[in-house]
Amino acid sequence: MTKALYSGSFDPVTSGHLDIIYRGAKMFDSLVVGVIENPQKKPLFSVEERVTMLKELFKDTPNVEVDSFSGLLADYVNANGFNAVIRGLRAITDFEYELSMAQMNACLFNKDVESIFLMTSPKYSFISSSMIKEVASLGGSVSGLVPDMVLDKMKNKYIKIK
Ligand code: COA
Repeated sequence: MTKALYSGSFDPVTSGHLDIIYRGAKMFDSLVVGVIENPQKKPLFSVEERVTMLKELFKDTPNVEVDSFSGLLADYVNANGFNAVIRGLRAITDFEYELSMAQMNACLFNKDVESIFLMTSPKYSFISSSMIKEVASLGGSVSGLVPDMVLDKMKNKYIKIK
């Protein structure tokens, strides 16, 4: 059985993330969406809120599971028998960071664990969670850039959102 991890902060999960998850889930028997607490970022949604939203979004996709973890990604990957870690590449600016992370992880992963990169669909290539939060907090519309359910939850956090 092949098993992949797609990990990130997902604060909030965007339409770009969803695209990667659906495409990744077609490539592996099982895809785990791993929500990580990044101490360097001040989150809008707690890890529990992010996990709940992702579980709801993928409740009808049987080979997608949602989990959370903290600490070193490679420790989580090695302890849970993953074959691959999926990452989305939006633009050339992502490449340098992703290359160094993949090479560092390659030193830490168990034998035969691979980092796999999927090119983000062009219609989502400009989206980032922090840009979504900035636009929404200033009253701009982010409709279509995040799932409707996430938009509703964001409305509870931002009074001005359209
Ligand atoms: N569509 C839309 N947005 C996307 C995207 C896509 N396909 N892919 C990435 N993004 C965005 C995210 O929304 C995020 O935006 P933000 O910075 O505005 O919040 C940004 O790109 C970076 O996302 P991501 O790659 O998920 O970074 P992250 O910080 O959320 O998580 C980890 C990266 C979890 C893989 C990394 O931090 C990690 O491994 N942490 C564990 C500690 C560790 O092991 N460190 C050593 C690594 S070698």
